[in-house]
This record gives sequence, structure tokens and C-alpha cells, in this order.
Amino acid sequence: MVPIFGTRTGKRARSAFSPAPMPLPEPAISVVSLVKSYGSRPVLHEVNLTVAAGERVALTGPSGSGKSTLLNCIGGVDRPDTGEIRLFGRRIDTLDTAGLDRLRREQVGTIFQFFHLLPTLTAAENIELPLQLLDLPAKARAQRVADLLTRVGLAGRADALPGELSGGEQQRVAIARALAHRPALLLADEPTGNLDSTNGARVLALLRELTEEHGAALVLVTHSEEAAAICHRRVRLRDGRIVETEGTEHAL
Ligand SMILES: Nc1ncnc2c1ncn2[C@@H]1O[C@H](COP(=O)(O)OP(=O)(O)O)[C@@H](O)[C@H]1O
Ligand SMILES: [Mg+2]
Repeated sequence: MVPIFGTRTGKRARSAFSPAPMPLPEPAISVVSLVKSYGSRPVLHEVNLTVAAGERVALTGPSGSGKSTLLNCIGGVDRPDTGEIRLFGRRIDTLDTAGLDRLRREQVGTIFQFFHLLPTLTAAENIELPLQLLDLPAKARAQRVADLLTRVGLAGRADALPGELSGGEQQRVAIARALAHRPALLLADEPTGNLDSTNGARVLALLRELTEEHGAALVLVTHSEEAAAICHRRVRLRDGRIVETEGTEHAL
């Protein structure tokens, strides 16, 4: 019998079985000619930045250089004046508010310097919050929260309120919350800026491990050399312009 998709020797016919070439994954972030002003004051000038899927990039630069503004534009909480921003190939600068909200709650996790946990919710409830917007059964939500609490070393503190936790613990809750919906992009704005060096190092190690496990890209705004060292690449801003990028020496 002649196999339908094979040769007489039983070998697969190339034309029938060769898979199509894998499409290259879209970059997590593609920023092209981004310009942003506050009033008449230009803050970002023609910024270009591409971050690959799964890549970790440290964004450094002096205070006031535009790091937070760039991160806020990428995260869709601020809009550029001109230029294009794509997340995973999808244009976000032209999305309406509802579209942006949906994209953020599905694809993006955010971590801030001052944690921004809701003070009246427990650690577990804070982590569960982004999951309540997704179509996930209560049992699966609770399991995911428990797993994340364990993963950030806080299994015993599920019922603690943020005010009962140290800064380092609060930031670990915030990391768990940012990753709860398994976003493909994590944006962190000086997440160790309010922590001592021991807690800062623990938070950085977790960011590196968890983004790697989730295959998430990370943009980490930071002043510190240690923070830059958990990234594959460093990009430096000065006066709203990218003045330097350093690559492979930071690769892990
Ligand atoms: N909402 C705002 N309104 C007016 N000016 C702003 C606003 N946000 C930031 N700026 C100004 O933009 C510049 C860049 O700020 P920012 O992006 O916060 O810098 P960085 O995070 O690097 O310290 C600063 O001069 C800051 O004062
Ligand atoms: Mg800032």
C-alpha cells in the first residue's frame, strides 16, 4: 500500500509534512519615535526601544530623565504625543480606553516603588484582585493565590494586612499580584527603591526567577547596578533620550 502522504519506502514526503517555518515571536515591546511633552515641556524625544519576548531590560538614568514617563506610556497609563507603541505586535497608542484596560489586565503586570497594595485587603486578597477580572473559577483562583504566596515566601502570611507586613514582604505580595494573571510583560518602576539591600536583593532575585518561569519580559526602572545585573540588557536615558544601551555583558 502506498501511504497517502509518504513515499513507497515509507519516508514522509517533505512537501506534505515539513512544518511551516515558525513565525518569529512578536517583540514584547516596540516603541518607535515616541515623543511626549507635559505642557510645553518635552520629556521624551523620539525614543525608540524594542524589547524581545522574555527579555529583561534595565532602564536607568538620572532622576527626571523620563524613565517613569516612558514606562507609563508603554503600560498604557499615559499616552504619547506622537510615535507608535506596540505590545506583542498590537498598536496600543491608538487603542481606546476600554481596549487599553483589557490589554493591561490580560498582558501587563506592574510593580511600583511604594507597593500600592490595598490597605484593607489581606495579602491573599490583594493577589487575587487581578484574577477577579478574569473568567477563572473561584477554586482555581484560590489555588493560584496560594501557589504564588508560597513562591514569594509568604505562605504563612495570607491573612495579613499590608500594614502588618514589612516593606520587603509588601513588595513580594505586589510581585505576586503583578504576576497573578500570568502577564507576558512586567513593568517595574524602581521596585527596590524603598527597600534595604537585603530585601532589595530578595525582590530582585524573585523578579528574575519568576519572570523566567513565566517567560515574561521585564522592564525594570532602576538606579542600582545590582538591579541592572539581573537583566539581559541595560538602556540608559538622559534628558528624555536614549543615550546608551549595553548588551551582552549583562546576559545571564
Ligand atoms: N504628570 C506630569 N506633569 C508634568 N510634568 C511631569 C509629569 N510627570 C513627569 N513630569 C516631568 O517629566 C520629567 C520626567 O519625569 P519622570 O518620567 O518621572 O522621570 P524619572 O522617572 O526618570 O525620574 C520630569 O521633569 C518631571 O518633572
Ligand atoms: Mg521615576
